[in-house]
Amino acid sequence: MKNILLFATSNLKKEEEIKRIIGNLDNFEIKFLNELEAKIEPPEENGNSFEENSIIKCKYYGNFFREFYVSSEDSGLMIDFLQGAPGIYSARINSLSKDEEKVKLILNMLKGVPFEKREAKFVCAVSLFEPHGTIKVFRGETKGNISFEPRGKNGFGYDPIFIPKNEKRTFAEMSDDEKDSLSHRSKALLKLKEYLVEQYNKTHIGL
Ligand code: IMP
Repeated sequence: MKNILLFATSNLKKEEEIKRIIGNLDNFEIKFLNELEAKIEPPEENGNSFEENSIIKCKYYGNFFREFYVSSEDSGLMIDFLQGAPGIYSARINSLSKDEEKVKLILNMLKGVPFEKREAKFVCAVSLFEPHGTIKVFRGETKGNISFEPRGKNGFGYDPIFIPKNEKRTFAEMSDDEKDSLSHRSKALLKLKEYLVEQYNKTHIGL
C-alpha cells in the first residue's frame, strides 16, 4: 500500500504546478488539503523566513495527520530595490488580496527605476514532515528582473512582471513547461522528489 504524501496548500495554481512537477511517485499517493473531508483552519504564518513559515505549516498539518507524510511550501518575490520586499509578505502586501492590485502596487513602487536596477528573485521553501517526526527543508531560487508593465496571461501572482535572467518573456508569457524548467518552485520540489527517491527508493525521477 502506498504512503500518503499530503501537500498542505489550498492555492489551486500552486497545486497544478506541484502535480506537474512531482508527477507520479511509486511509493506515495499525493493528496491536497481540499481532497480531505476534515476542514482545518490554516495556521498563522508568523515566521521570519520562507523556511520558518513552511515549517510552521507542515508541522501544524503533520500533527493533525500523524499517519501521513506532509509537505508544505512558502514562497514569494524579493526585489533588490525594495530591500527584499515584498518577501514573506508577498501574498498580502498592504492587505491587498487581488493579484492585479499587488502587481500594480509593485510597478508603482518601481516607477522610474531602470531595468538593470529592477533585479529580483523568486524564492520557494518546501518542507517535509515525516511520520517519525523529522523535518526536511528544500529551497529553490530563480533570479530575474521586474518588467515595466504586466505581460502574459499564464501562471498567477507576480508572474506577469517577472522576467527570469537571460529571458525576454515574463513567466506569464511562458508555457507551463517553460516556467517549470526555470522556476523556484520546481527547483525546491525536485530536491524533495530526489530525497523521496533516495529514501524510499523505487520511484522514477524526472520532469
Ligand atoms: P504563500 O501562499 O504565502 O506562499 O504566498 C506566496 C505569494 O507569493 C503568492 O500569493 C504570490 O503572490 C507570490 N508567488 C509565489 N510563487 C509565485 C510564482 O511562482 N509566481 C508568481 N507569484 C508567486
